[in-house]
Amino acid sequence: MRKIGILTGGADCPGLNSVIRAVVRKGIQEGYVVTGIKNGWLGLIDNDMKVIDPKAISGILDRGGTILGTSRINPLDDPEQIRKIAENYKRSGIDAMIVIGGEETLRVALEFYKKKIMKVIGVPKSIDNSLSGTDYAFGFDTAVNIATECIDRLHTTAESHHRIMVIEVMGRHTGWVALESGIAGGADIILVPEIPIGIQEVCDAIHSRHKRGKTFTIIVVAEGVHCKDHPEFREKVDCGHSFGGIGEMIAQAIEQKTGYETRVSVLGYIQRGGTPSAYDRLIGTRFGVGAVELIKEERFGYMVSLHNNMIQSVPIAAAIEKRKTIDMGMYEMARVFFAE
Ligand code: F6P
Repeated sequence: MRKIGILTGGADCPGLNSVIRAVVRKGIQEGYVVTGIKNGWLGLIDNDMKVIDPKAISGILDRGGTILGTSRINPLDDPEQIRKIAENYKRSGIDAMIVIGGEETLRVALEFYKKKIMKVIGVPKSIDNSLSGTDYAFGFDTAVNIATECIDRLHTTAESHHRIMVIEVMGRHTGWVALESGIAGGADIILVPEIPIGIQEVCDAIHSRHKRGKTFTIIVVAEGVHCKDHPEFREKVDCGHSFGGIGEMIAQAIEQKTGYETRVSVLGYIQRGGTPSAYDRLIGTRFGVGAVELIKEERFGYMVSLHNNMIQSVPIAAAIEKRKTIDMGMYEMARVFFAE
């Protein structure tokens, strides 16, 4: 076993380059040649790949995005793409693939492993932090830090203008980014997909704050949120990969019901771009080294994971079987502050 392939698939996130750098460094040290596949699965379809030499990974640790590029395609929908991938993979002489991705990319990797098209090792990437089997997916920490900084900034302007500020954050089906940045940023109300809440309840909470003399309210909304009394909001914005838009509808409904001036800020891709946090670089590096170890041990079909701050591994199947929803203990803890 001498040739490792590596690809980054799905949405990009800060920390991808830390993993690539670690895989290449550790791989070379262990006597492997590491080949980078360009643009996720697309690179295997187009036969777009290149050996990554040490020069190519110099100075990338603090760079956001991915030097390999990525794509959103799901080749499982197309037998012709599967055929091309199998053919190009075989021709490349790659012995095992390190696949860095979220739920969808790892699902494809597992399918290819089951079909005996390639041997795979997974690395959990997701600003949403929604992969099971790991306490943490890299990218999440940076997203939470960015969102927290934005909430801090929006706090001061909301306070000056006595406004309701709705801040929409990413996270798709889960509320991890909303919950953790909301707590860290001192949000007054946090709306997450896991707990559907009615707009009326939100307005009641705003009124009760005003009664206590507060003239502004910070509301952090996860993009995947469901409003009990407005199911049509969800239906309007739930469109594939990009979930954004529900914050605007919630803000309008609040302004209509309360009469308070309400503004919305959608943080969007700012949460995914730019410099990774120190923690994401650290975990990305540990995951990269761990992935090469798994190849050495021939633990194919597994994903590197973090448990109690130790690098371990879990079957990819277990990681993608069920979405990891928010920590309800943390949510309940946050409610103490909402009530304040
Ligand atoms: O899954 C990561 C994520 O950033 C989500 O938080 C967001 O909903 C989605 O990707 C956006 O996807 P795209 O880059 O395809 O618009």
